[in-house]
Amino acid sequence: MNNGVIMQLEDLKWAGDCMGVIESKINECLQEFEIDSIQLKRIADVFCQEIERGLKKEKSSFKMLKSYLQLPNGEEKGHYLALDFGGTNLRILLIALLGQGRFKVIKKVTAPLITESYNYITNNVCAEELFDFIAELIRKVTDDEYRYFLGHTFSFPSEQSALNHARLIVWTKEFAVQGVEGKDVNALLSDALIRKGRSNIIPVAVINDTVATILAAAYKDDCVHIGSICGTGHNTAYLESYDGKRCPMIINLESGNFSHLRLNTFDKILDQQSEKKGEQVFEKMVAGKYLGRLLVLVLKELGMLKQEIVLTSKDLSEIIQDSSPNYRKTKEIFFAQIEDTFTEMEYSYIVEIAKRIIRRSARLVTAGYIGIIQHMDFNFNNKHHIAIDGSLYEKMPGYAQLIQKTFVELLGDEKAKNIKVILENQGSGIGGAIAAAIFNEGRLDSDRIIMPSES
Ligand code: BGC
Repeated sequence: MNNGVIMQLEDLKWAGDCMGVIESKINECLQEFEIDSIQLKRIADVFCQEIERGLKKEKSSFKMLKSYLQLPNGEEKGHYLALDFGGTNLRILLIALLGQGRFKVIKKVTAPLITESYNYITNNVCAEELFDFIAELIRKVTDDEYRYFLGHTFSFPSEQSALNHARLIVWTKEFAVQGVEGKDVNALLSDALIRKGRSNIIPVAVINDTVATILAAAYKDDCVHIGSICGTGHNTAYLESYDGKRCPMIINLESGNFSHLRLNTFDKILDQQSEKKGEQVFEKMVAGKYLGRLLVLVLKELGMLKQEIVLTSKDLSEIIQDSSPNYRKTKEIFFAQIEDTFTEMEYSYIVEIAKRIIRRSARLVTAGYIGIIQHMDFNFNNKHHIAIDGSLYEKMPGYAQLIQKTFVELLGDEKAKNIKVILENQGSGIGGAIAAAIFNEGRLDSDRIIMPSES
């Protein structure tokens, strides 16, 4: 053999070794996102124990926040305003509740909280500026000659002392507006409405979006006892029966703060770089706000990305279903932010890693639901309908199916049959209106709302 041929063979061997190294690094990364059935069952058990600890007021990673609400009876009627505040878009709705689970949206306005010209979630903004912005939007859908009861869906951990008083404990989802933590958000809203000349709008209820989701779904389905959000953020609420010793009440777990989990290398980096380190650990592993960030961190670790880019969960949904020739869609997503290009092989890795991150999210979320049902009905004897709202559940390809499959994997066919997952994609708005109606009807029939003294 001449020298040239020897060189080529050596080059090939070197290239082959490199591929081997990359593949094994990729496999390691993929493995970091794998959680098997045994681990998931253990997570479900700990979820259940944490609820029970929280109910006994022992140390728990769940905040167990009271809503002062029972389930609706489906006959709530009338016109109510709903404010949905908690994600990247603000929504105001005027809703006619028609009874028997029926409703009509009469008016609706939405506004993003971040555009190129403003940002209402950063710490450069103060409470008054944020609530004035919200009140201004409410002003646009209301008239000053009518009186409106408003249900405020405020999707952050808040301690309630009554249906209409909620104090923000801590911002989540990277919100950082100054002067809101520790304050009564309904008072901030009322003051802003007065500043904007709208004292005819009375915020009568504040609820979490998980609570709103249960209310909206239970308005038409008696078997709904769990409401959850799989969107920008993640959280779940359920109906606590107190074993019949007290009036049942919907409890917001703030399950995104579940902390008994083994974090992988990327979870740890993500947490370190987040606004609130060490908090909302479960949420950072499963919620839409963070899944794209996890993918970026993996690609950086693999040396495939040198610079910072932002991938949204919408980007991820396009990446995992990219069946276009030569990964055209995925290329476009990356090209919008970087000039480097990847090989076909690298694109296939990106798709695989994204799938794994999403799969872990759906599996963890399901383990959480199982833990909650274990607490409510240890043997899964009854029907449990779980209402879910949020873009991750609604729009991420395969996410809903993964949840379904995980139920069967962890519970077996028989028990899994008693569980039905329902998409409740207008829950945050409708639930706000139902809460306002329950308040209004409670003024006439005091059994309808739970007073602080009874809780
Ligand atoms: C908040 C919860 C909320 C969830 C979904 C979390 O970040 O802490 O209160 O329910 O996001 O919006």
